[in-house]
Amino acid sequence: MPKPVTDHLAGPIGIFDSGYGGLTILEKIRRLMPEYDYIYLGDNARTPYGTRSFEVVYEFTRQAVLKLFAMGCRLVILACNTASAKALRTIQMRDLPAVAPDRRVLGVIRPTAEIVGNMTHSGNVGVLATVGTVQSHSYDLEIRKLFPYVRVYSEACPLWVPLVENNEYDSPGTDYFVEKNIRALMAQEPAIDTVILGCTHYPLLAEKIRRYLPAGVTALEQGDIVAESLKDYLQRHPEMECRCRKKGECTFYTTELPEKFTASASVFLKEKITATRISLE
Ligand code: DGL
Repeated sequence: MPKPVTDHLAGPIGIFDSGYGGLTILEKIRRLMPEYDYIYLGDNARTPYGTRSFEVVYEFTRQAVLKLFAMGCRLVILACNTASAKALRTIQMRDLPAVAPDRRVLGVIRPTAEIVGNMTHSGNVGVLATVGTVQSHSYDLEIRKLFPYVRVYSEACPLWVPLVENNEYDSPGTDYFVEKNIRALMAQEPAIDTVILGCTHYPLLAEKIRRYLPAGVTALEQGDIVAESLKDYLQRHPEMECRCRKKGECTFYTTELPEKFTASASVFLKEKITATRISLE
């Protein structure tokens, strides 16, 4: 099939998270597909989303998606499990048909669910995530739709995102909370053999998480999974692929102080970046 040429209306791919966590997804996406343009948007002023109600997470996410659309994005990835769990479906079913029928918004839960069922040998999967993601039961529902024999156990880790957002992911005090939540998860079912890091902030805690998981338990990070899934999506949707601009540029926006974002994001991404402040309201 001839490759479609890039549409003159092509725009960057939008990557959205409540804060810095989505950078762990962006990094893997850019590594796999450096040719595309990306806009990263972190709602650092209103993070964390994990303890907020369905209505608030939906409204904040809707505002972010509309902002990314206004900046030219045809395709937006919610690089945030909480937003994927609480807002994605409503945006896809209700908002897109009404305001932007030719644009797409994708999440991070479905691609992860598609992989995990083939990884577990014991049929017992653990999910570490925010309160919002756990309470939504999105992982249980998505995994059981695809792998009905898999049992899913979830543990909410309400302090992990604030610790990461405050640059405490390396500090010894964080070990206490990581160990506590992992113990609670494994106490639900000691035969869990695969644990989804179901929040995009958690790869920054991956070293600690692996330290406290029992030997033989796999910690599943989402970055590569989401990147592969996006690549596959673009291959299957040439009409969208040709509307994704390819100059290899990446720009960063935050709803908080850009200096703070620039400093933290540069550490997370191991490269010097600059961010611009925007308002979503
Ligand atoms: N990175 C978001 C997630 O994947 C964190 C949510 C929050 O802000 O609490 O769920």
